[in-house]
Amino acid sequence: MAARPISHAEKGQMPDLRPIGLFDSGVGGLTILKKLATLLPHENFVYLGDTARLPYGSKSPETIVKYLEQNLDFLERHQVKSAVVACNSASTVVVDQRIKARAFPVFDVILPGSEAAVRASESGRIGIIGTRATVRADSYQRAILKLNPMAKVFSMACPLLVPLVEEGWEDDPLTNLVIYRYISPLLKENIDTLVLGCTHYPALKTSIAKVVGPHVQLIDSSQSIAEILLREGESMIEPTPRPPSAAKSELDLTPQKISISITDKSEAFVEVARRLLYPLIVSSFEQVDL
Ligand code: DGL
Repeated sequence: MAARPISHAEKGQMPDLRPIGLFDSGVGGLTILKKLATLLPHENFVYLGDTARLPYGSKSPETIVKYLEQNLDFLERHQVKSAVVACNSASTVVVDQRIKARAFPVFDVILPGSEAAVRASESGRIGIIGTRATVRADSYQRAILKLNPMAKVFSMACPLLVPLVEEGWEDDPLTNLVIYRYISPLLKENIDTLVLGCTHYPALKTSIAKVVGPHVQLIDSSQSIAEILLREGESMIEPTPRPPSAAKSELDLTPQKISISITDKSEAFVEVARRLLYPLIVSSFEQVDL
């Protein structure tokens, strides 16, 4: 059995109350926020959805680097203790380009997803679906081959899936058809594992699972990101669960704060965000300029 994480109170330390920051171009990164906020109920979160500049997946690496730095500046102004680039298209530039050094750790989603895929795949035949930017960057392929040089990786860009999620059409016959059209060529390659290489796609997990069938495992990196945060940010992240016998601290009585900022007003975003995050409660929504 894995060792239970020790809380700050048990170690006689003060908890680090600064929030964890995340960003994505839109609602996609909320799939990671939900996982983290559920697994770490004593942590507060600041989420930025760059709705004014969505989609990132069709932009050049130079433009994505510029957006990423501005988004990290925003999170820095909110005094985050760590940042998760909850967007695969932006994570590829963290992996491949030189980005500004920050006073807080910046986590990308490529390595956690690749590690999870290599662990899950028995045949080593792994499919990747993502935006054009992610597929073009080839970051998953390189990370997976480093972990398992015998692996065979097959990628497919699925640019129509992000707008379908932003529209809230997660469960729709049209969406199922689009998924089928994109994924069929990967199934012909006999993959046994499929990486959801875009943070919007976990919202389509039910439809994707129907299309791929029970013999293909779906990988979304949110679980692995939480594990990496706990492992590498041990001194600043409040672990959970605590033993029922643990003394109640002020932290237990303070409700978790989830603040969401978007760069363009979008009723659809607010509605989809509430639905994707349910039963978590968003403390504040605001529109911001970067
Ligand atoms: N959710 C983002 C990703 O993981 C990208 C969506 C977009 O194209 O803006 O790649």
